[in-house]
Amino acid sequence: MGENGFEKWVLTVTAQTPTNIAVIKYWGKRDETLILPINDSISVTLDPSHLCTTTTVAVSPSFEQDRMWLNDKEISLSGGRYQSVLREIRSRATDFEDKEKNIKISKKDWEKLHLHIASYNNFPTAAGLASSAAGLACFVFALAKLMNVKEDESKLSAIARQGSGSACRSLFGGFAKWIMGKDEDGSDSVAVQLVDEKHWDDLVIVIAVVCSRQKETSSTSGMRESVETSLLLQHRAKEVVPKRIKQMEEAIANRDFASFTQLTCADSNQFHAVCLDTCPPIFYMNDTSHRIISCVEKWNRSEESPQVAYTFDAGPNAVMIARDRKAAAQLLQRLLFYFPPNSDIDLNSYIIGDKSILQDAG
Ligand code: ADP
Ligand code: DP6
Ligand code: CO
Repeated sequence: MGENGFEKWVLTVTAQTPTNIAVIKYWGKRDETLILPINDSISVTLDPSHLCTTTTVAVSPSFEQDRMWLNDKEISLSGGRYQSVLREIRSRATDFEDKEKNIKISKKDWEKLHLHIASYNNFPTAAGLASSAAGLACFVFALAKLMNVKEDESKLSAIARQGSGSACRSLFGGFAKWIMGKDEDGSDSVAVQLVDEKHWDDLVIVIAVVCSRQKETSSTSGMRESVETSLLLQHRAKEVVPKRIKQMEEAIANRDFASFTQLTCADSNQFHAVCLDTCPPIFYMNDTSHRIISCVEKWNRSEESPQVAYTFDAGPNAVMIARDRKAAAQLLQRLLFYFPPNSDIDLNSYIIGDKSILQDAG
């Protein structure tokens, strides 16, 4: 830091991170503090221009404590997860110098300097659209940049994992896999990129916001209750997911949409079956979610091959992956027909993964 006492400088970094939606779900931890999962998972990362978190981190000698604002409301950073991430990042900070502004921060200074962090999600928070994934990945990415952390994405994913499990997959575009790992300290529980965003760029993601309210049971407490009470979860983690992970990796590598759809829908449905098998049962989907499933299933069955895969995270909102732009346009038509705006069952909004689909589809 500077030599002459009181300094007014503020150093800031802004980052943007997309959310990711699991097609083979993570549900259950074997270690609550380190956030180590009981099975591998695979997700698709959304286009950063659609659902994303934007976070600005600032450091200044005039800040008296670490503080954070989420969507303009101050939140506490005292929770174990934010503290783990801050500790991991601070311990890897390296020297920083900006000669023009005459700012010099040594590795040791980073331990003492306080941070102000402001984050915005451009989509519903805590409503089952993976806000913790985008949010915590962005938190880690922005801090790592600010503090000149020189670790690769794999190491950063292990740090993001300690903020929220699903966050480790948001540091990669395209499809990512979170490897559960074996080590007790979690060092091999990291995310890897399976393929980048160009590999399967026919796919169009359509999100139907059924309800943007905060869910009653957070993912963290929901999965804790499932681990404690659901036998189906044990069966799923040991017998079902390992096979599905292999099949899903193949389907993605071969751009095999029929297998991809079968696996994605089956895994979403089994995850929600585990929630029902939890005591007391957890209901993340609602009647509208169920109607969307029926609508897509019927349509897929009436075609020669499936047009759309659906998946629901820990919330009622539908994430649908259409095989191409034409299927996406037809999906929107169907949704508008079955869920007309301003009717009893109107969907809040549709967030479309590719803005040009309506013009382009035949
Ligand atoms: P979701 O389905 O949206 O991921 P979770 O229950 O997993 O819901 O997590 C929601 C929690 O994640 C929020 O209550 C908040 O603590 C945290 N979170 C969400 N967005 C951010 C963000 N941008 N920055 C920091 N923390 C966030
Ligand atoms: C259903 O990552 O939000 O979205 O690790 O406790 O923060 P914590 O939970 P979180 O759980 C995500 C559950 C899921 C499936 C998935 O994203 O794989
Ligand atoms: Co979450």
